[in-house]
Amino acid sequence: MLLLLVQFLLLVATGEGYALPKGRQSRRNHYFRKSVSHKLTSFHSWLSASSSSSSWDDFDYLQHWYPVSWACDIKLNRPTQVSLFDIPYAVAITKTNDTLSVLAYEDRCPHRGAALSEGRVTETGYLQCAYHGWSFDQQGKCVQIPQSPAKSSQYSTRACAKAVPAILHQGLVWLWPGPVTNNDVTLLPSPPSVPEMDDPAFKVTRTVRDFPCIDWTLLLSNIMDPDHGMFAHQASPFDMYSASPEYQMQVEQSFDSAGWQMISKVPAQEKLRNRDRILRGLTTKAMPMNITGVTTFHAATHVTISRRNEQGETSFVTAFWVCPTGTGRSRFLSAAVGKLPFSPPRWVFHIALNRFLDQDSVLVASQQPPVLSAEVKCLDENQQSMRSDAAKGGARTGLFVYQSPTDRSVRLIDFFWDATLAKAPRRSETLLAMKTAGLLESIPPRKVVLDRKVQHLDICPDSQNTVRNCEFIKQTSLVVTAAWVVRTFLNKNVNARMFWWIPVLFSGAGWSAEWIRKQFYYNHSEANRDRDLKSIPKRMWLDPK
Ligand code: FES
Ligand SMILES: [Fe+2]
Repeated sequence: MLLLLVQFLLLVATGEGYALPKGRQSRRNHYFRKSVSHKLTSFHSWLSASSSSSSWDDFDYLQHWYPVSWACDIKLNRPTQVSLFDIPYAVAITKTNDTLSVLAYEDRCPHRGAALSEGRVTETGYLQCAYHGWSFDQQGKCVQIPQSPAKSSQYSTRACAKAVPAILHQGLVWLWPGPVTNNDVTLLPSPPSVPEMDDPAFKVTRTVRDFPCIDWTLLLSNIMDPDHGMFAHQASPFDMYSASPEYQMQVEQSFDSAGWQMISKVPAQEKLRNRDRILRGLTTKAMPMNITGVTTFHAATHVTISRRNEQGETSFVTAFWVCPTGTGRSRFLSAAVGKLPFSPPRWVFHIALNRFLDQDSVLVASQQPPVLSAEVKCLDENQQSMRSDAAKGGARTGLFVYQSPTDRSVRLIDFFWDATLAKAPRRSETLLAMKTAGLLESIPPRKVVLDRKVQHLDICPDSQNTVRNCEFIKQTSLVVTAAWVVRTFLNKNVNARMFWWIPVLFSGAGWSAEWIRKQFYYNHSEANRDRDLKSIPKRMWLDPK
């Protein structure tokens, strides 16, 4: 039963599902708004033009919102450490009159450098350092030094904590790491939105996982590369987003105040018909809808994947946000947003997703040494850009080989990374430090790369509750079963046959609880790998004739 549910949830995670058209008068949503996007006529001529685009040259990583955590994973009034571009921040969510707000500071007390994330939120809503009790307001101004007789207005300006703008948006905590014009946060643009998340008809299931051995750019490129889905994940729904000579990909991009966005679209109607038993019986003409596999990238962190009809409607969206926790690492945040009758328990979804992510984590981590080494090489040659040599290509475009029709979008993203990453905060310094420390030579052992406890359990309160409950059920079932056995042997008056179901029931519950508990820890074997390799859809094994 659980496996069936897992299968179902994986279909949700890969954007399976479509919406029936509601009528011709439906408004086309922003995925199909062509007026703001540049539709490609000649992709290759456009690509060479855009790879030197001044818009990318102007791209400023510090002038964007970054998602750092789901709000539901941070306890109310409990300062928590998050990381963004290799800088640790202390973040706390507070509640005043039913309104939630966020305090966010660089995680260093101005007094003697202690971590503010070890502190507490006071009753008045200030963040108080746990070391000597200095308190700070939302703007970082020091409002109390318990040991000082001076008034707060007399404190040195050096006593201020470094606060950063922070907001809650669609259940995520967002930080703005860069300078703000006139210190007026109301002038900042909104973070990117997923419209379906605000629609009450859709249920949202949120997931999180840290990847200490996968650079955030590699993770984003992986998410936007549907070709790997059928091999690494053995999931045929990825085919809806992959291009082929028959089903060409259309790539559009737009530049606006919110930054750079790319949309790729692949006709999915025929593919859908071929794999759907009911639709297969229909002719193309009789198909009730025109379905497109749509992938959107909102630089530099946000991706959505969905199948949409002509009106731009969908029943499922899989949304991703990749937090650039630092160079060579990342935090994966995703949401399955679907028209479901109920919200599946979060922990069930997390078991499915951990299993799904394990399937290609080692593969993506294994890209890290060659790709980051290529970046270092380009930086050595040209401090300004990863685009070291126009003829040879940049760090990624010079390293990778593009042969698939899907590479239209994959290659464009690589051009974007090559054009802009040298400007990513602290990237050059961290890359050089990683190289010096020998971290670009190989990847850590599988046990580290796939450590579900550190990467997920330790940061997910829902899964922690599940593990606690499983441990309780396991221990209770052991005690009850043992007590039944002892009592049956000692007391001849007890009818053992009548109550046989007691040990069976409790042993089953204990076994199930232990199986669930184990899913939150390192759980990989050669058998898993063999099973995954054998599960690749047969039609993908097309050996050259
Ligand atoms: S280090 Fe924070 S109050 Fe002293
Ligand atoms: Fe979880």
